[in-house]
Amino acid sequence: MSTVIIIGAQWGDEGKGKIVDFLTQKCDYVVRFQGGCNAGHTVVVDDKKYILHLIPSGILHKNKKCIIGNGVVLDPAALLKEIDTLNNKGIEIDNNLYIAKNCHLIMPYHIAIEEESEKNGKIGTTKKGIGPCYTDKIARNGVRMIDLLYPDILMNKIKVNLEIVNFLLVNFYNSKPLNEEHIFSQYLDYAEKLKYYISDTDIVINNAIDEGRNVLFEGAQGTLLDIDHGTYPYVTSSNTIAGGACTGTGVSPKKIDRIIGIVKAYTTRVGEGPFPTEIKDNLGETIRQKGGEYGATTGRPRRCGWLDLVGLKHAVRVNCFTGIAITKLDILNGIDKLKVCVGYKYTNRRIDEFPKELEILKHCEPIYEELPGWKEEIQGVKEFDQLPENAKAYLNFIEDFLKVKIQIISTGQKRDEIIIKEFPL
Ligand code: GDP
Ligand code: IMO
Ligand code: MG
Repeated sequence: MSTVIIIGAQWGDEGKGKIVDFLTQKCDYVVRFQGGCNAGHTVVVDDKKYILHLIPSGILHKNKKCIIGNGVVLDPAALLKEIDTLNNKGIEIDNNLYIAKNCHLIMPYHIAIEEESEKNGKIGTTKKGIGPCYTDKIARNGVRMIDLLYPDILMNKIKVNLEIVNFLLVNFYNSKPLNEEHIFSQYLDYAEKLKYYISDTDIVINNAIDEGRNVLFEGAQGTLLDIDHGTYPYVTSSNTIAGGACTGTGVSPKKIDRIIGIVKAYTTRVGEGPFPTEIKDNLGETIRQKGGEYGATTGRPRRCGWLDLVGLKHAVRVNCFTGIAITKLDILNGIDKLKVCVGYKYTNRRIDEFPKELEILKHCEPIYEELPGWKEEIQGVKEFDQLPENAKAYLNFIEDFLKVKIQIISTGQKRDEIIIKEFPL
């Protein structure tokens, strides 16, 4: 049996969905453990494109158990819409979806509060209510999935929360109050539609592991967006690192076999926050166009930059990757010289570790190594030996610097556009 955690090593959108979809072939269970519908995981199968937000990317394979763990914050409206979209594309959920009783629900007032607080563009969030929902969870005011089955408890929680939220909306934000009866009846309707999926997912997953099943844990966002280990406050509100897979599911670290870091061959970031290797000239735009670097959830253009090995070294440390998957190598075709950041310059000092101080990170200048690029088209290449020598050298440089094996190289959007150097399960 194998349990494998898939983690974004940068600022999200590394191609986690594609790799999870590929590895699902050999897995029985795929589990989301944090985040919510702020995630947008794109999977392309037979020229059809699917974007998964809440449902694990394993759903595109028949009869794989897909689990939304307790660490996720779930917007029932978004989930129902996603189920609908999948059904319309011929993907049936059947009895393959399990939702944790103890995952927290995103409520309309979370979205309303976030829309107001983001009006001055503070973080550049996805406005899906993620931050306010986690705030209520930690403050012990949250509404959980299981509350949907207890209308009295549900109504009481909505009432208590709205007293505060409406005060803020009206008196602080000069906005309109929300109606508790309306929210209550909306959520009763969701309860009717989603009650079949509610489960003790900690028991389901642990039993599966104990029976020797292969279980994949699908991370959302990325290490540098982690609430503790990312570029705070320009982060998301959950633990996106490997440790989050344990707290977000109720599976002990003792039961985890492998942790795969997903690394895009360059770097992107959506939203505000420091990004030392951002390319601000035309090349950034070229990469954005070629790589289709627009948010899968919000459609916002992603900021593009060179590979940052300082940030990745930090990701290797806090996650302890047992292997790496490099994605989107094909997007770098045709660039004459590739830059790779191997350190930062801050004032007159060299810094080799990713700084925790935002004020320092903001003013860090990347120290680059230049590597020769390649002209050959590599999209769809399936064998490592068929890569141009300069592409191999680029990969070897990353491997040597990070001291972690590159096990997978993705060379295109489609499921089979992939090189497997070492199967990680
Ligand atoms: P995720 O959030 O980490 O799952 O990544 P996204 O789906 O938001 O963004 C990754 C984008 O790159 C998607 O459009 C994928 O279809 C695409 N993609 C993934 N791997 C590759 C690859 O190796 N080459 C190319 N060209 N596109 C890729
Ligand atoms: P996937 O799983 C990239 C970013 C937002 C914003 C910050 C906080 O597709 O990689 P939030 O709505 O989470 O409170 O926003 O985090 N962000 C992502 N960036 N990929 C994601 O998910 C993201 N989810 C959130 O742009 O900067
Ligand atoms: Mg994404």
